[in-house]
Amino acid sequence: MQIESENFQWEYAKQKITILDDPYCIIIDDLFGPEKSKEIFEYIVSLREYFHPAKITYEDHLKTDEDYRKNVTCYIDALYKIDDPDWTARREYRKKSQLLGAIDGLVQSQDMGMILHSAPFPICKFRDVNAWETQISRYGYDKDHYEWHYDRLSNDDRMITLVYYVNMEPKKFQGGELVLSRGLSLGKKIITSNAKECTIEPKNDRLVIFNSRTVHRVTSTTSSARFEEGRFSVNIWCGIRKNGEPISNY
Ligand SMILES: [Fe+2]
Repeated sequence: MQIESENFQWEYAKQKITILDDPYCIIIDDLFGPEKSKEIFEYIVSLREYFHPAKITYEDHLKTDEDYRKNVTCYIDALYKIDDPDWTARREYRKKSQLLGAIDGLVQSQDMGMILHSAPFPICKFRDVNAWETQISRYGYDKDHYEWHYDRLSNDDRMITLVYYVNMEPKKFQGGELVLSRGLSLGKKIITSNAKECTIEPKNDRLVIFNSRTVHRVTSTTSSARFEEGRFSVNIWCGIRKNGEPISNY
């Protein structure tokens, strides 16, 4: 499972950036390039045994609810966790993961911080991010989906959401679009009548960035039972901590 990755630093070079403004989100295509994204895809497929049915947070505890969310997930941070107070040592260890090495390089990239600094709040705070968690999702087994929700929970580090899509080329799944809404949600429903929505196609090597309070869902997804033919996305939830506590509790 562990493959040593090179010392990775993300730089803006050949990417294409698009803004959708209702609701606001940033789409960066060709984020890592064909070689690196293929390497990340193959690495994710190698983690198959670590994927388990997704759970949702309900009244401060985790439970499965397939009407609300049905897919499989891998909490990759837990696989590369060492008990060392020194972040540099922990970061070095995470570089053993092809994916975490790339994600950590992206979150700490000066280029990305500068690009996002002119975005609306809270995305403009990206360069101050010092805490992030990573979860990989696979959708595609028998109408996998995730109903309306927002990522921000209580007192956590989820201020800015990054979703990175990576998949086999050509893609072998149908559906699995990300739909963002300006609406207000209650439970798994949008309760406002005139909320604008935008739909984003899950495309290989695409990054989508939005406020973790933006309401969103994943549409029904179909793929073959072959693990590698599914729709894969990597969620990176970013926040800012001071003295070990989240200060992003806006
Ligand atoms: Fe989400």
